[in-house]
Amino acid sequence: MIIAMDGPAASGKGTLAKRVALHYSLPHLDTGLLYRAVGRDALARGVALDDAEALAQVASGLQVATLDDPELRTAGAGEAASQVARHPAVRAVLLTYQRHFASGEVGAVLDGRDIGTVICPDADAKLFVTATPEVRAKRRFLELADRGVDVAEEAVLADIRARDERDSTRGASPLVQAPDAVLLDTTNLSIDAAFRAALDLIEAAMSRAGRAG
Ligand code: DC
Repeated sequence: MIIAMDGPAASGKGTLAKRVALHYSLPHLDTGLLYRAVGRDALARGVALDDAEALAQVASGLQVATLDDPELRTAGAGEAASQVARHPAVRAVLLTYQRHFASGEVGAVLDGRDIGTVICPDADAKLFVTATPEVRAKRRFLELADRGVDVAEEAVLADIRARDERDSTRGASPLVQAPDAVLLDTTNLSIDAAFRAALDLIEAAMSRAGRAG
């Protein structure tokens, strides 16, 4: 069983994907971490974030054991990730790893931007998780404040808008809802309510798939 969960930055898809994976006892891959790690490694090696060929090499050498690095969760890493993610050569390298992860015996939950459209177009259930930019910025701001990071909410909102724009308008695998994905708008939902709604939508997608098959 493969579950694809896509959506913009801070939509809650990561938290939901983790809980959904736990619920179905499936492995989970936060694919944003792959792009974040490529950005981190490129900066550490002095590779320019617009040098597609060198970035693809960095992606090829990525050590997945380093994906739990807390540094990858910072806003700077998110920004670098969004820049490296524009390059088709980088995406091609990471696509192989993501498809391999999804092809495990029991399946997987993957969250990102292009899981339902490009990585796993035949996923059993596809969710497109979103919320208004203001609500996403508020959530991210509270999360950062909780970690003791001193930043203005307006700056977080500006960052989210810039990333939305870059992720949705790039030529290579832009952030877009797959035609067969179901929309989950978490703007007015608590995390528990969003989780219950996600399970309902997944169960409905699975029974539709069962009926069709
Ligand atoms: O989900 P995130 O905020 O950790 O993702 C960081 C960046 O990586 C995001 O701005 C765009 C890119 N990304 C992508 O292009 N495709 C994915 N499947 C996941 C992330």
